[in-house]
Amino acid sequence: MRYPESFTIAGRRISPPLVLSPMAGVTDSPFRRIAKRCGHVGLIVTEFISVEGLTRGNMRTHDMMRYTPEERPLAIQIFGYDEVRMRWAAEIAEEAGADFVDINCGCPARKVINGGGGSNLLRDLPQLRKILTEVKKAISIPMTVKIRAGWDDKSINCVEVAKLIEDCGASMVTLHGRTRVQGYRGWANWDLVREIKQHVSIPVSGSGDIMRPEDAMSRFETTGCDAVHIGRGAIANPYIFRQTWETMNGLEPYRPTPVEMHELLLLFRDYLREHMPEKGVIGRMKMLSAQFLRGVPNGAHLRTAVLRSQTVAEMEPLFDDYFALAEKFGIDHDLQCARDENAELAECGV
Ligand SMILES: Cc1cc2nc3c(=O)[nH]c(=O)nc-3n(C[C@H](O)[C@H](O)[C@H](O)COP(=O)(O)O)c2cc1C
Repeated sequence: MRYPESFTIAGRRISPPLVLSPMAGVTDSPFRRIAKRCGHVGLIVTEFISVEGLTRGNMRTHDMMRYTPEERPLAIQIFGYDEVRMRWAAEIAEEAGADFVDINCGCPARKVINGGGGSNLLRDLPQLRKILTEVKKAISIPMTVKIRAGWDDKSINCVEVAKLIEDCGASMVTLHGRTRVQGYRGWANWDLVREIKQHVSIPVSGSGDIMRPEDAMSRFETTGCDAVHIGRGAIANPYIFRQTWETMNGLEPYRPTPVEMHELLLLFRDYLREHMPEKGVIGRMKMLSAQFLRGVPNGAHLRTAVLRSQTVAEMEPLFDDYFALAEKFGIDHDLQCARDENAELAECGV
């Protein structure tokens, strides 16, 4: 099969059709730059940003909108309930230079639901319509929407919601095929992506459980979707976009050398330092290290030591030792994500 090389959102060509999925606490600007560096990310979506924080002048929330030019094309994702604040926040995102505004209708976190936003909107369609109508009126850049399958197994309504979304003038819909109640358990239902695709004419992207290039390829084949979002698979392996693009084009997927992986970790450190105070850097370094420092024989103790480090300076000689071992013995994994570990990450995320 010939895989799509690109897709189009309201006349704007996105190539390749591989999207870095929004992940709160993960896809901040330093991580997005790293993903982009590794290559072949067609579109980036920011982590979700609270419209309450944005419209009440919370500086930390505004800070979440910072990005560097290399991250574009970029969709800024917002979440909330009140249509006036949603509209206002969308205007702020447009002013910040976003290429698209993405509306979050999928977050399952209690705090978000209690405020009426995220996946709560899947069971309050009149409010969802109001929000989308207001946002659409207010901005001149395209509006996109990310949803879940429905609230629970008994109320799967994503096809109806996707039609509503199209009707309100959105330019793309993305489905993460789990219900709110399901959280991150089980598997995403990609049959629903295919169903949505049959019922709307705007581009449809699917999200859920793409951990290696073959997963993305089989989703394109079986659903006819226009794009795929990759989330946890990109934390485990930021090269996944490049490798997917290469595999889709019949090429041998790229395998980074230990030296490159070492350099990428240090680059991440530098980007983090540009973006946040030092005390925030260590936790974020541990996130990527936990994924990167796997698969080297006799390397486990170094990984553990990195994860116990109190400062970045403490980590650096451990990286040197780890990647020296990697050079000598090779890395015995394909950077593929340990699914259980990432499910845990999701549970503590959103
Ligand atoms: C830690 C974490 C944070 C997330 N934050 C967001 C978010 O801010 N907005 C959103 O629409 N989805 C969010 N998601 C959902 C992902 O974008 C994605 O739809 C989901 O993880 C399934 O895809 P995956 O298996 O490729 O990770 C988050 C997921 C994780 C694991």
